[in-house]
Amino acid sequence: MENPTKKQIARDDASGLDRTLRPQTWDEYIGQQKTKENLRILLTAARERGHAAEHILLYGPPGLGKTTLANLVSKTLGTNMKITSGPAIERVGDLAAILTNLSPGDVLFIDEIHRLSKSIEEVLYPAMESGVLDIIIGKGPSARTVQLELPPFTMVAATTRISLLSSPLRSRFSGGTFRLDFYTDNEIATILKRSAELLAIKTTPAILERISKRCRATPRTANYLLKRCRDLAQLEGGALTDEIVDKTFTLLEIDSLGLGKPDRAVLEAIIHKFGGGPVGLNTIAAATGEEPSTIEDVIEPYLIRHGLLDRTPRGRVASGEAYSHIKIYNNQ
Ligand SMILES: Nc1ncnc2c1ncn2[C@@H]1O[C@H](COP(=O)(O)OP(=O)(O)OP(=O)(O)O)[C@@H](O)[C@H]1O
Ligand SMILES: [Mg+2]
Repeated sequence: MENPTKKQIARDDASGLDRTLRPQTWDEYIGQQKTKENLRILLTAARERGHAAEHILLYGPPGLGKTTLANLVSKTLGTNMKITSGPAIERVGDLAAILTNLSPGDVLFIDEIHRLSKSIEEVLYPAMESGVLDIIIGKGPSARTVQLELPPFTMVAATTRISLLSSPLRSRFSGGTFRLDFYTDNEIATILKRSAELLAIKTTPAILERISKRCRATPRTANYLLKRCRDLAQLEGGALTDEIVDKTFTLLEIDSLGLGKPDRAVLEAIIHKFGGGPVGLNTIAAATGEEPSTIEDVIEPYLIRHGLLDRTPRGRVASGEAYSHIKIYNNQ
């Protein structure tokens, strides 16, 4: 086979995959029923009144569908979506440029809003509340404040760390604050069925179920695993079988609960180095080489939800189930 030219190589990285498989309609967006229902009422009512919808805050662990939901919000309102993120807005001027360039009714999506600086936050308050921007022009005694009227807009913000948001900021999301939950195995299997169809991968319900049990209840991970299984199937002759799926998990070191190496490293550190806990987050981070924020945002939520880890005022504690899981895994 000839090598494809650069142009012929389709985007196949994680972000490309996210985009290909991203649901385009509310029906394709599986699960999160309560959030969906509330948003649909809020958005439909706003559209019927001819008003911009009120500001919305979405939070939850990575890969559960926050960005996807923001896209659906703007689609439903029938307006454009401008995308930025907390760390991208470095100066007040950056924010002013974004806000003054919005068209009436636009959606402004701010990802990672917890990484917004304090000074920017303060400029954002009046913008969110009264649709005005206060800008200071000049310095020293001659400095004066100019107030700019902004077009009506809907801010949709997303964060994996709601606890880092100040309460004045939180209170300005008058449309509501919605927490995205982990998905059930059935919901994941439904998501995988659509993904398999889009990627032209032949599967069976049994295979989809097998993958859904190992994806940490997270759609992005489920899609990633499906693709890795497809890759191995391709190298080994074509068909996606139970054996191929299991072999993929073994290669990726994903265990029966869907935990990967970093997840087990955290549990093992607590169990073997700190007698099961309680132990502080920074100590676990130092012992595992992970960033504290990665442990808190990415690793911990699923371990907690699975009853493997508990957060107490004195630190993290490994559960009895964590002990037996790690023991079984290491004896395999
Ligand atoms: N409810 C859903 N139904 C179907 N697929 C979904 C759903 N939620 C997420 N996905 C899939 O998972 C991928 C990741 O979702 P998304 O990018 O919206 O997550 P996120 O919460 O924004 O993650 P992060 O915190 O890392 O930005 C999407 O591209 C989509 O394919
Ligand atoms: Mg996102």
